[in-house]
Amino acid sequence: MRRQIAAANWKMNCTFQHGEKLLDEILGAKIALQTHQRVLFAVPYPYLIMTRSEVEEELNYYAAAQNCYNKQSGAFTGEVSAEMLHSIGVLYCIIGHSERREYFNENNMMLAEKVSLCFENSITPIFCCGESLTIREAGTQNDFVATQLKESLFHLPAKKIRNIIIAYEPVWAIGTGKTATIEQAQEMHQHLRSVLAGQYGTNIANEISILYGGSVKADNASELFNCPDVDGGLVGGASLVAEDFIKIINALK
Ligand code: 13P
Repeated sequence: MRRQIAAANWKMNCTFQHGEKLLDEILGAKIALQTHQRVLFAVPYPYLIMTRSEVEEELNYYAAAQNCYNKQSGAFTGEVSAEMLHSIGVLYCIIGHSERREYFNENNMMLAEKVSLCFENSITPIFCCGESLTIREAGTQNDFVATQLKESLFHLPAKKIRNIIIAYEPVWAIGTGKTATIEQAQEMHQHLRSVLAGQYGTNIANEISILYGGSVKADNASELFNCPDVDGGLVGGASLVAEDFIKIINALK
């Protein structure tokens, strides 16, 4: 079975102390993950080492970064490289979140560089794609997300891309409480998989986990995750409430 993943994206929330408590509460639930299941905590940079050591004893739980820079190293004050993340044992990194695209002008070309740097440093990228409300209303969302994949990922050889995680996050559903319907989610996930299959073949496309993100909550996670092409979720707001995120982990296939 494809990897099924519940990924928490804390964004720029939580103090260190609150973050530690949140992790303690979630890990305290002692949810034993099956071999095909993963739980990731994408926390702010200063909390990565703490998170990594908190999850160390837990099978299939991992720390993740929320971003890295698109250059290897050098005079880029304030930035963090994929190599630095690797050097502290971080194995996953979100790339191309819509908030980074919108507020930090990240484009498909820069994201292609970030994805490559992640792979060069043994980090699995969680590559985000998704359309704005304007694009959804114009009905051009399928072409839009296909271009995001092509421009940022299709330089990768099959042996690398098979290990990527993709997160489909419609921008109109992020933090709005307006979740995509299960039909909209399944339709888009199937489309993304067919775009991947067109480039890399069906076998590779079928190995890639595609997560849904955008107002995933404790009470809608099960029906979303049960869609055949939805392999879990990338969760913002609800990942900050231990009880809710525990329910979301328990909703994994
Ligand atoms: P919300 O779950 O708060 O809508 O955020 C989704 C998201 O952006 C996860 O990366």
